[in-house]
Amino acid sequence: MSSLSNKRIILGVTGGIAAYKSAEVVRRLQDQGAEVRVVMTPAAGEFIRPLTMQALSGNPVHTELLDSDAEAGMGHIELARWADLLLIAPASADFMANMVHGRADSLLSAIHLATPAIVAVAPAMNQAMWAHPASLANTATLQERGVHIIGPDAGIQACGDVGPGRMQQPDSIVEAVGKLFKNGQLAGKTVVITAGPTREALDPVRYISNHSSGKMGYALAQAAIEAGAKVRLISGPVDIAAPERCQLTRVVSAEDMLSASLEAAAGADVFIAAAAVADYRASTIEPQKIKKQGDQMTVSLEKNPDIVATVAAANPALFVVGFAAETQDIETYARDKLVRKKLSAIIANDVSRSDVGFNADENEVSWIDADSSKVFSKRSKAQLARDIIEHMVSQHKL
Ligand code: PMT
Repeated sequence: MSSLSNKRIILGVTGGIAAYKSAEVVRRLQDQGAEVRVVMTPAAGEFIRPLTMQALSGNPVHTELLDSDAEAGMGHIELARWADLLLIAPASADFMANMVHGRADSLLSAIHLATPAIVAVAPAMNQAMWAHPASLANTATLQERGVHIIGPDAGIQACGDVGPGRMQQPDSIVEAVGKLFKNGQLAGKTVVITAGPTREALDPVRYISNHSSGKMGYALAQAAIEAGAKVRLISGPVDIAAPERCQLTRVVSAEDMLSASLEAAAGADVFIAAAAVADYRASTIEPQKIKKQGDQMTVSLEKNPDIVATVAAANPALFVVGFAAETQDIETYARDKLVRKKLSAIIANDVSRSDVGFNADENEVSWIDADSSKVFSKRSKAQLARDIIEHMVSQHKL
């Protein structure tokens, strides 16, 4: 099976003579089994007609950011979420600068900002423009942010100059894109992921919970899907949308999460516990709203089951990854949890900071297993999730 089979790709076309080659890119991507939607900047329309791209892709071409009809269909945020890959080919010097500055002045640049997908660009510009320190600095910045740069080729250019700057040939672009998906790495595997908080009811209107948003667990689910796994996501109450191609089970309490996890983990290959499970629940859930009782009140709590430890004990062949959310002595506590809960690996997460951990869009963690450890510096949770999945698969030969 091709690594692009069933992948959803937004092909962003920006203004440049190489735009005519993007029609061929659409064809080649489709030949590999990808579903392609085309987004064109206004300048791209000067070089190739949207109708051509529409006929080739079999889907409407998206051009306008502020188009109420388009937004009522598949709006820019929906498109951004839909994609597994945003491929910008050709990427003009201007558009790359636009990406560096995080502008959102066109539909394509807004999608670039909003998408959790892998981003790749195939630059196309005059050789002197490509060699300019500003273009080189922009390219380096994009690379540092995890954007994949495909090409450019060197040779005779449309303007008659000779040198690097030509967009790579469609076949080479599609080959490079195929390599971006560490696809097949988890093909045929089932991955179960817990995410979000649990809520432990005190009475019909109150509960104990925490600040988990589900972003880390949901990003892991998306990354495992991208790696070809069948994903079961068991989620506490959160406000974010689940990846489309996973089997979602919504739960509320730790006990619900335990039953769903045990059911899903039987026969699975990997279990990742990113959920922030409440360690305690009320000894009794009052059937009616608890009335005010003077200046102080005491709630009796009892211990919740440990989901990840129970799942690991019940499934000795399962590869089980826990998270350790700590505010101090992070590595020591994480190692203790790795051993005590009999996990295959643990991901140590500093939750004392507001820029990472709970509810943040970025995270910084350390992977720790019996033989090794690896620090993942601060990056988006989407990128971190891909890096964790990649590390898990390559390190442990899953
Ligand atoms: O959801 P986000 O806002 O994106 O935030 C992400 C996160 C900070 C919640 C996540 O990265 C994280 O660190 N999750 C683990 C939170 C946690 O409960 O850590 P812990 O150290 O208390 O628990 C250790 C491990 O045991 C965890 O894998 C946890 O899921 C599991 N556990 C804990 C208690 C319990 N009763 N059952 C469990 O399975």
